[in-house]
Amino acid sequence: MGPGPSDVDPRVLEAMARPTIGHLDPLFVDMMDELKGMLQYAFRTRNALTLPISAPGSAGMETAFVNLVEPGDTVIVCQNGVFGGRMKENVERCGATPVMVEDEWGKPVDPQKLEDALKAHPEARTVAFVQAETSTGAESDTRTLVEIAHRHDCLAIVDTVTALGGTPIETDAWGIDAVYSGSQKCLSCTPGLSPVSFSEAAIARIRNRKTKVQSWFLDLNLVMGYWGEGAKRAYHHTAPINALYGLHESLVLLQEEGLENAWARHRRNHEALRDGLEAMGLSFVVAPEHRLPQLNAVRVPEGVDEATVRSALLSDYSIEIGAGLGPLAGRIWRIGLMGYASNPRNVYLLLSALEAILAAQGYALPRGAAVDAARAAYASGNENLKTAANG
Ligand SMILES: Cc1ncc(COP(=O)(O)O)c(C=O)c1O
Repeated sequence: MGPGPSDVDPRVLEAMARPTIGHLDPLFVDMMDELKGMLQYAFRTRNALTLPISAPGSAGMETAFVNLVEPGDTVIVCQNGVFGGRMKENVERCGATPVMVEDEWGKPVDPQKLEDALKAHPEARTVAFVQAETSTGAESDTRTLVEIAHRHDCLAIVDTVTALGGTPIETDAWGIDAVYSGSQKCLSCTPGLSPVSFSEAAIARIRNRKTKVQSWFLDLNLVMGYWGEGAKRAYHHTAPINALYGLHESLVLLQEEGLENAWARHRRNHEALRDGLEAMGLSFVVAPEHRLPQLNAVRVPEGVDEATVRSALLSDYSIEIGAGLGPLAGRIWRIGLMGYASNPRNVYLLLSALEAILAAQGYALPRGAAVDAARAAYASGNENLKTAANG
């Protein structure tokens, strides 16, 4: 129940234990086509260039930057947590100039600040931001930010590592040009793969580059020789066969549940957790309208030692939660409810374990109130569902 990796669905682990076949075996090639189709489903896109990069989310980030950014470019990077800082690093290593749009950690990216930066830098060609900031639990308004980027003739790169499968992403409807994610969060798969998708405008930019993509491994022109359509597939690198079995199974699971149902499940479990935590007197870092259901950043109450609580959760209950990073280090806990781990059993277990540990530290709380509040939240959610079903 940390910020990822989250628990892996047993069906995914089982799929990964199947025999390893060749990366050009016809059966495997068929599975690659299915994977691409299911990733299009998850990202809500018809982009032909949709595939999993054979490396973790950071490689998806790097794929977006090294392919779309050229030396001498100006890139507007919005930062409201750890991962915007990584984007800046990527821009610099591409020989380009980052212009930073900074927001306080725990707040979403401010669209007005992006608009101002684009007005001040008409030479900018790219805008990059994180939809779901894992370091704070804040969600930014991707639709609005992409629309602003396009109005200023920029392409938009969007990080959805923590978002995909947990919260809505409309790649086509919002016009995202380059989107990347990770397998280890709301997709309930193991770490190590990075689904990506690129629009036609992004492909046109890549085709018209003046310089070679500086990374051989992540050059999409070359990667497409393996992942492209039809029988022309050629060796590029030895694909992580068993990891891809796992991702395939996790996407089958997502389709079986239905994307909207997965989003609703993440929200329902978040609401129960939220009501339980608030009944204990705990408070959230992020304002309600910008909170990610899959990443709950909670303030450590006065007089409580945050590291002691985390280590008691781990040693006594086998529950991992995350610590704060950067300016939030020592001040918050990050509780993940991602993918397979987003379920009522985890919510109840975490609430009762946390209650016992906090009480042992002398923190005054009404005993039993947290679990009662979570139960009431689930009951009212079920009532709402019944009312909706009855029209
Ligand atoms: C928002 C965000 N971007 C990028 C990454 C990097 O992904 P990975 O650790 O899989 O390389 C993470 C990882 O937690 C993340 O949360």
